[in-house]
This record gives sequence, structure tokens and C-alpha cells, in this order.
Amino acid sequence: MVTKEIIDKLHEKNYLNEEEMLYLLNNIDEENKKYLSEKALEVRTMYYGKKVYLRGLIEFTNYCRNDCMYCGIRASNKNAKRYRLSIDEILNTCRKGYELGFRTFVLQGGEDTYFSNDIMVDIIKRIKNDFPSCAVTLSIGEKSFDSYKKYFDAGADRYLLRHETASKKLYQSLHPNMSFENRIECLYNLKKIGYQVGAGFMIGLPNQTNEDFVKDLMFLKELEPHMVGIGPFIPHKDTPLSGEKAGDLNTTTTLLSIIRLLLPKVLLPSTTALGTINPKGRELGLLSGANVVMPNLSPIEVRDKYSLYDGKICTGEEAAECLVCLKNRIESVGFEVDMGRGDNVDWKRNA
Ligand code: 5AD
Ligand code: FES
Repeated sequence: MVTKEIIDKLHEKNYLNEEEMLYLLNNIDEENKKYLSEKALEVRTMYYGKKVYLRGLIEFTNYCRNDCMYCGIRASNKNAKRYRLSIDEILNTCRKGYELGFRTFVLQGGEDTYFSNDIMVDIIKRIKNDFPSCAVTLSIGEKSFDSYKKYFDAGADRYLLRHETASKKLYQSLHPNMSFENRIECLYNLKKIGYQVGAGFMIGLPNQTNEDFVKDLMFLKELEPHMVGIGPFIPHKDTPLSGEKAGDLNTTTTLLSIIRLLLPKVLLPSTTALGTINPKGRELGLLSGANVVMPNLSPIEVRDKYSLYDGKICTGEEAAECLVCLKNRIESVGFEVDMGRGDNVDWKRNA
């Protein structure tokens, strides 16, 4: 099969076997890439029209017990200035976001043991009580089945937990004292409990190959998450990977298009990391099949402290400024902003 036929098969069957996927990644040229992104756009338009969903991201703690080699808030980075938002600061941030029109709040943080299950449950209940029309998404790492269940019962709707890489060997080299199996189990537990689940991976990690991306794509097809977050790896100066190269735009946009065809209805963000490696990165992500953007709502005083990688955009902007900027960017490439909850079209909460 030639590359174009492989793209047609992916479009029609939403599936490729490992050999075909690898062939596609190894052989895609400019002309085929254009064809791939056209198909991806066709599919996203069929399910989501021109809509781009916005999520308000609240980075509420940068304390983390883990030591991921790539991440600027890893436990052993002594240069990181640590902060935690209080529950009132979190609620005030939601209020600001609500007034700007946001109806999804993503609570993201490092794995911070200060936020016990009781504290998390309290935060979730209070947000749901004050903003009943809003979806709450958690992104706070690996927890037990019981903890995930408690947050869900408190009203959390969605959970983001990137698998980071589906290559066990690469995973182990990047995550001291963590287990690949446990991360995967967490994702299946989240699905079992009833969350809308987001997995995802980084692009351009040191020694990462197309064979590794094939593993990521096969894993995503098997898990069938409702959301997939992918973005380029970007080195952070205070990490062991400080001297490495960042992931590239072209590989990221190709993978966005492939994921759109593999999981047609998936909610797929055009990430801040993509906007960081290229000034038009997020726009190009949308043109490749992405349909979500997650602007930062965190208070301006803490923004530069949530530093996962160097050069992160929007750290000096107020939420309202980012929103205007983003709307303009989204419209400049022919899409329209939707501030609604933006659930996955297939999803119904059965609680
Ligand atoms: N470059 C790009 N993405 C990163 N993340 C963490 N550190 C980096 C980095 N240096 C991503 C991880 C994590 C998400 C919150 O941010 O994939 O899951
Ligand atoms: Fe934040 Fe443009 S999106 S300033």
C-alpha cells in the first residue's frame, strides 16, 4: 500500500495495524501530510463543526512528590518556587472564569500530598455547588481506585492523566520510582468509575522513535479515551534533560491528525506547549484536527511558577487578555469559540 492508501484506510476504518502505522510515520511527505490534515479536518467538522471548546486551566499547586526527568516542578528541583492556592483562591479563580464565560474548570497540580482526599472532595463539592452548570476536570496524577471514586462521587466529571509514553522502556528511564503498569491501570480505573478520561503523550523525548509513537497510538486505540492531550517535549533548564532538543511542530501536527482519524470523536487540545515552540503552533494544531484549547486562568502571581518547561507562553497575561487573544487566533483560522461544557459527543453521565 502506498502512503495515500494508508491514509484512506485510516479515514475509513479508524484503524491501522502496527506495520501500516509505522509505514505512515516513516514515509509521510508534504503532499500526503496535506491530505492527512484535510481528512482530519473533515472528520472533526462532521462531529464538532467549526467549534473549538475552551477549558479554564487552574494550576493550583506546583508541589510534586514525583521526579519526572523532563518536568520543571519535579521534587528535586530546588530552584522551583513552590506555591499552593487556598480553597478561596481556587473558588475566586473559578468565579473569574465563570464571569468570562468558562463552563469547564481544569484543576491541575503536581502530586501534592497536602491535598488529601478530604480536601479535594471539599474543593470539588464547593465548585460544583457554586457553579452547578460547570464541568470539573481533575489533573492531579496517580491515585488509588478509592480516591478516584471519592472525587467522582463528589462531582468531578473528567480526569486527565497523560500516559506520557507507551514505551515501557522509555517510561522507566524518565520516571524514577514510578511504575508504567500502575499508570496504565489508573487510566482503566478512571474509565471504569465513569469519568470522561484523557490520556496522552509527549513528542520528541530523548531517544523517542516512530516505533514508540506506534505504541502510543495503538494504546490510545485500545483505551479509547474521551480526550487526548499531546504536545512537544520542551526542555526545562533545571532538569536532567535541560540540554536536549525540543519536539517539533511537524511531528506533533501529523500525530494530531492521525489521532483525529483513529478516534474521530475525541476531544483533542491544541496545547500550550505547541504554542510555545511556534508562534502559530496552536492555530496549526487546530488546522490538523484539534478542537480544544485550554487557556490559563491561574492568578497572575503564580503563573510563572507553574513552570513545567522553559519559554511557556501567556505567563504574563491576565485571563481576560488571554481570552481575547485566543478568540482572535481561533477565528483567524476559520473556527468559532464555544464556551459551553463541551462534553464528548458520545458521553452521558449515568450517575
Ligand atoms: N515539556 C513538555 N511537556 C511537559 N509536561 C511536563 N513537563 C513537560 C516538558 N518539559 C507535560 C506532561 C504532563 C503535562 C501536565 O505536562 O505530559 O502530563
Ligand atoms: Fe494567552 Fe494569547 S492566549 S496571550
